[in-house]
Amino acid sequence: AEGGNAEAGKTKSATCAACHGADGNSTNPEWPKLAGQHPSYILKQLMNFKNDERVNPSMTPMAKPLSDADMADLAAYFSSQTKKLGEADQTKAVLGEQVYKGGNNATGVSACAACHGPTGAGNPAAKFPSLNGQHVTYIKNQLYSFRKGERANDAGKMMRNIAAGMTDVEIDAVAEYISGL
Ligand code: HEM
Ligand code: HEM
Repeated sequence: AEGGNAEAGKTKSATCAACHGADGNSTNPEWPKLAGQHPSYILKQLMNFKNDERVNPSMTPMAKPLSDADMADLAAYFSSQTKKLGEADQTKAVLGEQVYKGGNNATGVSACAACHGPTGAGNPAAKFPSLNGQHVTYIKNQLYSFRKGERANDAGKMMRNIAAGMTDVEIDAVAEYISGL
């Protein structure tokens, strides 16, 4: 995938496993699951951390020493793993589903499903990440970060514009819904 070699990636992933899990399913909900994520998206994120377009105190030092070949191998490895799915809080998921599938016309929030797909599978060709089964805390942190403009590696401000229109309640609800997809 994206020219990477999953076997070589496995060898290179030992330090990543400490946070993202040996099987790509992190246990700490602030650390994203990488299992099953599109290689094109993983590669973009690693390049963005390396060139400071996306900044994080844990990830920046991890990405700096990686070569293009290392990143492609790691992307191939993590994408080949199987993501463990989650279960949504059904009370919050009702509003979450509404936002995910229909957005919010009144505040100009686009439907998430338009880009991330009805099942949260994303779109590898467009580098839209898969979201289904991701940790609630991680999703919320990313949406807050886009809203504040701290995460600014989304081409065309696609996510910053959407998050800017979302309330805390909508963010909480949509994160719950996504975690159960
Ligand atoms: C995010 C890969 C090591 C903690 C990410 C992302 C990727 C990645 C691709 C972005 C995921 C997404 O956008 O969905 C890797 C690789 C590693 C590695 C290939 C080894 C070379 C680590 C380690 C830690 C860590 C050792 C903990 C000390 C995190 C955190 C985030 C993250 C906290 C989220 C950052 C944010 O909130 O923006 N990692 N990782 N990673 N990783 Fe790693
Ligand atoms: C990334 C949620 C709508 C395009 C993300 C991420 C989250 C998210 C949580 C970060 C994933 C990660 O770090 O692993 C949502 C929600 C939406 C929504 C809740 C609806 C309210 C959209 C729409 C588009 C879009 C409509 C397309 C116009 C993208 C792209 C990225 C992304 C391109 C990756 C940015 C990058 O390259 O780093 N989204 N999204 N999203 N989303 Fe959305």
